[in-house]
Amino acid sequence: MRKKLVAGNWKMFGSLAENAALLDAVRAGAPAGGGVEAAVCVPFPYLAQVQQSLSGTAVTWGAQNLSEFAKGAYTGEVSGAMLRDFGCRYAIVGHSERRTLYGEDSDLVARKARAALDTGLVPIVCVGETLAEREGGVTERVVGEQLDAAMGVLGADGVSRCVIAYEPVWAIGTGLTATPEQAQAVHAFIRERVAKLDAKVASNLLILYGGSVKANNAATLFAMADIDGGLIGGASLVAADFLAICAAGAR
Ligand code: PGA
Repeated sequence: MRKKLVAGNWKMFGSLAENAALLDAVRAGAPAGGGVEAAVCVPFPYLAQVQQSLSGTAVTWGAQNLSEFAKGAYTGEVSGAMLRDFGCRYAIVGHSERRTLYGEDSDLVARKARAALDTGLVPIVCVGETLAEREGGVTERVVGEQLDAAMGVLGADGVSRCVIAYEPVWAIGTGLTATPEQAQAVHAFIRERVAKLDAKVASNLLILYGGSVKANNAATLFAMADIDGGLIGGASLVAADFLAICAAGAR
């Protein structure tokens, strides 16, 4: 039986004061056990604050990006080893905002996932189609190619140490959520695709859904056979909403 993971993606929001209140509430209210793990992926400058707040609790944390390189003259970049220094368990890679706004392609995303694994981080590898691609009937082709790029670089052993997040671009921050059936269909497709690489890896793989997950739709999404939790943007900034979503993942 796979556990569930509910990971908040704070994006570029927060301040020391706002985070302190949010982290206090998350620490106090996060489920301990129940088959669900709560995590927060925060902006780099706040990792020290999060480490101090969440160390010794069941809540885990991570970053939203990392460098593909281990170290060197890469001004403005942050390495996986640096993230580990601040206790990160996760690094999101290939979020659609990075792909679209910062030109990250699937090959770079795969190298970033590799860099994360090499430093002991768990990459949360994001895949997903745009509205035009869905309407054009090419969702599986797009998601399949994004996945293949990661599988090609990481291999079965690497993929076994990843989390995948299916995030339809048209559902991110828009209030439009994929229906549980729409999401389940793509999740099943992803698991089948990974099964061609390695059936056991596929059956153990956590596949999160992301895109306007809210307190009132999380339970139906998380009830689907191949949905193993969520990557939560906007709702992760409101403690009560995030905790309700975490509770929806508990069994
Ligand atoms: P959203 O964002 O929950 O605000 O739609 C999800 C994400 O971008 O990870």
